[in-house]
Amino acid sequence: MAVRGASLDEIQTSPISPCPISPLTEASPELAPARRLLEEYSGIAPEDVDAHMQAIRTKASRISHYGAFNSLSFLNLSPVLHDPRFQTITTLLNFPSSTTTFLDVGCSLGLVVRHLAAAGVPSTRLYGTDINADLLALGYDLFRDRETSLATFIAGDMLGDDAALDALNGTVDFIYASAFFHLFERAGQVTAAKRMVGFLREPVGGGTGNRDGNGAVPVIFGVNGGPKIQGWERYVLDAEAWRAVWEEVGIATGTRWRTEMEVESGEAWVWVKFGVYRV
Ligand SMILES: C[S@@+](CC[C@H](N)C(=O)[O-])C[C@H]1O[C@@H](n2cnc3c(N)ncnc32)[C@H](O)[C@@H]1O
Repeated sequence: MAVRGASLDEIQTSPISPCPISPLTEASPELAPARRLLEEYSGIAPEDVDAHMQAIRTKASRISHYGAFNSLSFLNLSPVLHDPRFQTITTLLNFPSSTTTFLDVGCSLGLVVRHLAAAGVPSTRLYGTDINADLLALGYDLFRDRETSLATFIAGDMLGDDAALDALNGTVDFIYASAFFHLFERAGQVTAAKRMVGFLREPVGGGTGNRDGNGAVPVIFGVNGGPKIQGWERYVLDAEAWRAVWEEVGIATGTRWRTEMEVESGEAWVWVKFGVYRV
């Protein structure tokens, strides 16, 4: 994984164990949703799931130094499933005759996209992107849906003018970014955020409950966090810094944004959840 935030490796491999990215084993209850997904969506026999998860983890750890591949925590769906913003957006994606689209930026193996597909969202409306094409490819091996999924996965660098990502311009309604913005310092976060704004479709009004037209639902949301290693504040921005990022993004893109952030901060760990809303 080509990571530009030097602190990421430390963040993701710290021995300290907060809830969202704690090292997980086959016995961890947090893995129940992923286990169900592998059985029901991917058709893997229950008795084969543990070996399959470990085989994919081994391959993933060879192609990426993302610390979640040191254990089975890359399969932890529990935090996103408990995120009220994700719950709301899942409902909108599943709304009758919905045309709403969803993109996971920094999607890694595409776990969240596969969860949504299994939850009934047509995969034609699901997108994932990651700088690491090998992770996207391994995602098909993990979920055994290379022949069946119609989700769009595009490899590209969110910090550059990567032409591959132009295919996403004006395409998506909701963007999820988990453990993504905190890879970069503020300037990189602004660059990635501007690229995301370019990916968004024009909103639809009228209270259809379908796409976001009235700023009531976050169009970009996710989480950041990790251990409070030296300099962590440059990566995990606080509520005011995050608001200022989106003010800058708005000025640069001719758009307007309101931000929300919830911070869980302990002595050794910080974890923030955020939502970015149209104004
Ligand atoms: C810490 S992992 C998070 C993975 C997943 N979203 C999660 O929450 O488990 C960060 C992901 O972002 C990807 N990434 C890193 N730099 C990137 C960039 N410049 N553009 C796009 N993706 C990037 C990495 O390859 C990796 O899969």
